[in-house]
Amino acid sequence: MAVELSVDEMYRKMKAMLSGIVPDFELRYKAELACEINRLKKERNAVILGHNYMEPALYHSVPDFTGDSLELSRRAAKADADIIVFCGVKFMAETAKILNPTKTVLLPSEKAGCSLAASITAGDVRELKRRFPGVPVVTYVNTYADVKAESDVCCTSSNAAAVVESLGTDTVIFLPDEYLARNLARETGKHIIFPTLSEPAAQETGGGLDFQMVGWRGRCEVHEKFTVGDIRRVREQFPDVVILAHPECSPEVVEAADFSGSTSAMIRYVEKTTVPRYLLLTECAMGDNIAAANPDKDMLRLCMVRCPHMNQITLEDTLASLQRTQYVIEVPEEIRVRALRAVERMIAIG
Ligand code: 13P
Ligand code: SF4
Repeated sequence: MAVELSVDEMYRKMKAMLSGIVPDFELRYKAELACEINRLKKERNAVILGHNYMEPALYHSVPDFTGDSLELSRRAAKADADIIVFCGVKFMAETAKILNPTKTVLLPSEKAGCSLAASITAGDVRELKRRFPGVPVVTYVNTYADVKAESDVCCTSSNAAAVVESLGTDTVIFLPDEYLARNLARETGKHIIFPTLSEPAAQETGGGLDFQMVGWRGRCEVHEKFTVGDIRRVREQFPDVVILAHPECSPEVVEAADFSGSTSAMIRYVEKTTVPRYLLLTECAMGDNIAAANPDKDMLRLCMVRCPHMNQITLEDTLASLQRTQYVIEVPEEIRVRALRAVERMIAIG
């Protein structure tokens, strides 16, 4: 757990990292908030998990652990505090609750959803299982607990290929991100279909089983917006730029980029390489966070595309969350125990 700093120490720490990004008077205000959060965190025996998309002042001050979805799920599984405050979105906080039924899990904003999680229901998964009996269901961790409960195993963008491989079956149902599924199908040479539930499936009409993946047309409302045209225009202006795309981007965008990986894989790539400049095709706060931690790296940012859900989480709301014990995440026990199997299998796979 981080050492508790005074407001002055916190202000100096934040200034050392963020002076090029956040004006001084706002930094002082945020340092005061961060100190109060850290004081309450200790008083209430809480741990704060912060996703890589958190805004720079929050990201660099209050989380005990930062990371991508898989890393934070692993941290949540090992949490020994009484309270887990999840600075991320609802499906992430739910995953922490699935793993920690006796702990209080808090999400600082009720509005922090996710377009992928909202794209599919448990009933949709049950219908797909009826259509494709015996075919295992892999769901992206960006889903709600009742959808996870219908699944054999969850995955994140950092272990999707390993999870599918681990099943050892000819065919998988892979839900709900269309682009992650298409990227995975391309990478592993599989043929993917996207059945419409209102129409009979191919094998029901004698169409034969000429596919290895069954997908769903969920999209991330952030990553679907990046285009090959964006990449072309950036490369025209900055021919030496290295472009990194999250696998929730379309296959055309991923193919036109130089690297694709989870949020933490992108951070590691930037840290380990030395090129004139980088552009991340993902939530733009990540560019700020990397630039703050690596002042020698030149980060371009496309900030017209933002995640409205991740951006709900502020230092003010995180403080209110600890002061008022809000918003408490609950998962019905019957759903939790079934979802737990799928989440634990995911965590076990590298
Ligand atoms: P990561 O698992 O790469 O952190 O992705 C989470 C997410 O929501 C990306 O939009
Ligand atoms: Fe969901 Fe996309 Fe936001 Fe990630 S960036 S939380 S996938 S809407």
